[in-house]
Amino acid sequence: ARTLDLAVIPGDGIGPEVVTEGLKVLSAVLPPDVKLETTEYDLGARRWHATGETLPDEELERLKAHDAILLGAVGDPSVPSGVLERGLLLKLRFAFDHYVNLRPSRLFPNTASPLAGSPEIDFVVVREGTEGPYVGNGGSMRTGTPAEVATEVSLNTAYGVERVVRDAFERAAARPAKKLTLVHKNNVLVHAGHLWKNTVDRVGREYPQVTTDYLHVDAATIFMVTQPQRFDVIVTDNLFGDILTDLAAAITGGIGLAASGNINPTGAFPSMFEPVHGSAPDIAGTGKADPTATVLSVALLLRHLGHAAEAARIEEAVVADLAARDVATARSTSAIGDALVARVAG
Ligand code: NAD
Ligand code: IPM
Ligand code: MN
Repeated sequence: ARTLDLAVIPGDGIGPEVVTEGLKVLSAVLPPDVKLETTEYDLGARRWHATGETLPDEELERLKAHDAILLGAVGDPSVPSGVLERGLLLKLRFAFDHYVNLRPSRLFPNTASPLAGSPEIDFVVVREGTEGPYVGNGGSMRTGTPAEVATEVSLNTAYGVERVVRDAFERAAARPAKKLTLVHKNNVLVHAGHLWKNTVDRVGREYPQVTTDYLHVDAATIFMVTQPQRFDVIVTDNLFGDILTDLAAAITGGIGLAASGNINPTGAFPSMFEPVHGSAPDIAGTGKADPTATVLSVALLLRHLGHAAEAARIEEAVVADLAARDVATARSTSAIGDALVARVAG
């Protein structure tokens, strides 16, 4: 029998709640000849309070051995902001060289999207995952005084930009619309902007079948709301991609539905799949968290590991579940999980 050896990091807040449902759906969708093995990692706020550790080296080593990682969310109001986000989540993305942060956006049926009823929205954001302002290249002087100075320098390398741009062109070439939009801010961030634009223009010559477009990030937020159909594949830097994908989630049905994959396309390290949303401390423990984003992240995980039919079954189950639901009646986290289990199993 084949095995699927999965590392699971439930994390903080609603993380464990949504991961439970994601694993339920995963177990239900896998064919009998695939054996699921899960190893849970106790990482996040609890661990930090108990030991002061965010991601010890031994844990990082152990994580390397799995086929993939499923993560819920990290971050907790009781931990200083950035400690877990940087020390755990970003450390994983950087250590495992997850340079493609893949965030698909499709308009789901029967949601509270302000764009509900508009023509189909179907685009994917290829967000660079290992560079930009996320690298921690900054500092603070005279901290806490009226003369404080802080920098947060965005790192962009030809190597890092080219590999993610190539990945985005490959994805665009494989889609019906074959269109790639670079989103940046090259009218102000001229140095990084030049590198990105130049790279897209140069690599684009190898993909004559792909139409390329460029938008400044501020204008991109306008078009995402007023004309989302103009997007097919978006390639952008780490921070712009972070912001754009929360907006993309809001217009396509809500943050509770948005899935992501932190992918290392070389296979050198395991890829990591997680909902786009965070630990939602405002609703943690209430049973109000929508686990659908995590379930859809499981679908991305399955597709990445070669289980395309099972991934499609999950995605179809989600669309059918949303279409059939009564929007006026709120469902609990586990009720949504149960409904999806019934659909993928049936
Ligand atoms: P958030 O995504 O956690 O929450 C934003 C809003 O969306 C909240 O009102 C929340 O209740 C709602 N929401 C989020 N997920 C939902 C779901 N599945 N179902 C229903 N509603 C949902 O963002 P935030 O409030 O900015 O951040 C909270 C914490 O999470 C912070 O510590 C932040 O650093 C962290 N964070 C972690 C990740 C991650 O682990 N990948 C992502 C984003 C934020
Ligand atoms: C996300 C989150 C993370 C990011 C944070 C928590 C580090 O917002 O996955 O979108 O900015 O990438
Ligand atoms: Mn984000």
